[in-house]
Amino acid sequence: RTYALGIVPGDGIGPEVTACAVGVLDAAERLFGFSTTRETIPAGARHYLATGELFEGAVREKLQAKDAILFGAMGDPAVAPGILERGFILAMRQAFDQAVNLRPVRLYPGVRTPIADLEPERCDLVIVRENTEGAYVGRGSTVHAGTANAVAVQESVNTRAGVERVVDYAFRLAAGRRNKVTLCHKTNILVEAGKLWQETFDAVAARYPGVETDYVHVDAMCFHLPVSPERFDVVVTDNLFGDIITDLGAVIQGGLGVAASANLNLDGSAPSMFEAIHGSAPDIAGRGLANPAGAVLSLAMCLAHLGEAAAAKAVETAVVAVLGQMDGLSGADMGGSTDEVGRRIVDALESA
Ligand code: NAI
Ligand code: MG
Repeated sequence: RTYALGIVPGDGIGPEVTACAVGVLDAAERLFGFSTTRETIPAGARHYLATGELFEGAVREKLQAKDAILFGAMGDPAVAPGILERGFILAMRQAFDQAVNLRPVRLYPGVRTPIADLEPERCDLVIVRENTEGAYVGRGSTVHAGTANAVAVQESVNTRAGVERVVDYAFRLAAGRRNKVTLCHKTNILVEAGKLWQETFDAVAARYPGVETDYVHVDAMCFHLPVSPERFDVVVTDNLFGDIITDLGAVIQGGLGVAASANLNLDGSAPSMFEAIHGSAPDIAGRGLANPAGAVLSLAMCLAHLGEAAAAKAVETAVVAVLGQMDGLSGADMGGSTDEVGRRIVDALESA
């Protein structure tokens, strides 16, 4: 088995954590008998400032041909906020129809969480965020801009087909886990979108009689998620609510350094993309202070997606072992630099 990977290290700590993930990938290939061809795509702030190139064009064509994409992070103080985020990350999710943003929320043993008395066994859920529609389609308008009479309208677009494919994915996922799906929305206030989501959810649920269903308003979710995460197995939600509650999930699981994600294309028309959920962290870039765990756990999700289940599981286990030995999740508390932590993960993988 040989897989074609596109590697997009990006900016700031993106290249640092991506290098660790690639080092772990090398070890996984040696141990599990598969191989990859890799093309590193120079994209991000420096590339944009030098060439004006974002996602569309040659970058898109190169990535389209890959089996999967490993993504570091993008964003730089030298580029106006939003240009790289919308011009590259959002553009890729849309162009490659990456319908599902998958965010596991797991508290690993030995990892410190700000939630008092939360045991790891109580925190193992997955958030399925709709990734191409909702408030993130960039539709809206402003009249009388810049005046006292200004009115800004920002639209949220929800299609039956777009919602159904994501909800159906959530039910399939739950069927391989603890058989429960929770819809998270604000159906009592956002009545148009809420009705479409609830109707679609009910229709899909009827096809999975063995899966239990639940509904929680997004504001209540911000209370329940930290206090009783054991209530949740798979949570399905729209793009904006998902963006918000997945950051809350990252806090619960110990911080940005450990949180991983997948951006999944569901119909095979384009590659899926795997990234740690943190950004480029310019405040710590270039100093070896970044925790590579989120990036390496994202690699594990990539391997699972490619069908290398044993390698995926082993990589996750190795990361968990190394995390359990750390005093904290970033900087000096990691007990070594980014590269050293990466090497420890490789050691744990090789000695398993
Ligand atoms: P950030 O996630 O880059 O950093 C937030 C805080 O967490 C910082 O104090 C940082 O030092 C710390 N941190 C982040 N990752 C860490 C790691 N692996 N280990 C240890 N500490 C870590 O978010 P911020 O500062 O809001 O954004 C910085 C830039 O990244 C901006 O340009 C932003 O737009 C961009 N960004 C890009 C994302 C992406 O590429 N998908 C996602 C989020 C932000
Ligand atoms: Mg976010």
